[in-house]
Amino acid sequence: MEVIITPSAGEASAEAARIVAALIRAKPRAVLGLATGSTPLGFYDALAEMHARGEVDFSQVTTFNLDEYTGLAPDHPRSYARFMQEHFFSRVNIAPGRIHIPDGLARDIPAHCEAYEAAIREAGGIDVQLLGIGSDGHIGFNEPSSSLGSRTRLKTLTERTIRDNARFFASPEEVPRHVITMGVRTILDARRCLVLAFGDAKAAAVAAMAEGPVTADVPASALQLHASCALLVDEEAAARLKRAEYYRWVYANKPAWQRTPQAQRP
Ligand code: F6R
Repeated sequence: MEVIITPSAGEASAEAARIVAALIRAKPRAVLGLATGSTPLGFYDALAEMHARGEVDFSQVTTFNLDEYTGLAPDHPRSYARFMQEHFFSRVNIAPGRIHIPDGLARDIPAHCEAYEAAIREAGGIDVQLLGIGSDGHIGFNEPSSSLGSRTRLKTLTERTIRDNARFFASPEEVPRHVITMGVRTILDARRCLVLAFGDAKAAAVAAMAEGPVTADVPASALQLHASCALLVDEEAAARLKRAEYYRWVYANKPAWQRTPQAQRP
């Protein structure tokens, strides 16, 4: 895993946006895997600003979101569909028909999950998957104990995640208990993964993901098995990394050809 420690969340977000924009320029029909939550907000801002400056065109891009709460309609103010609309889709020119988000109101959830996996395959697979990490080490909503071979399915949130996400709702009781989420295996199938993590609340999970054992106890640790995963963190989230100095050294000594975002495309 390539670990990039940046002075601020803003710089990490801008770097991730540059990588994704470069991919889209090289491959206009790119397939993006997208995440919600507080972490990617700066990333979406940076991409929307690039789009407004005419630097990136999303007209042929296809997107798949990681997850959605069950029981929430797409227009529910706390649904991830609505989040994406507000923070990203309404600001760029992605064709609505190319946007995919699990349906929180699906009646037959297993069939819906299978269809979601099939749609990813039919789109040619995900070129780059954006990820945040939960304070309990989840990616998507693959909570601790999730199978590292899992595919899109229903998951039950941990009490900790419900507490973490209660800030978006009026009370913890209103946070849905269940979600539909891409599985760990679905995420590992992406050609490239970009993980963003900011703030000291993520420091322990970041260290366990990057330097701990690969274990279902920390689903994000499965990313150690991915051949092209970059972790972009601010100083606070990097605070518990044992090899932080080495990661800085590697980044400072990167050959010029590896520094260009184009070279990082899958
Ligand atoms: C969101 C998702 C989650 C979040 C994680 C971190 O689509 O899949 O894994 O990335 O819970 O959330 P924030 O960014 O709000 O700290």
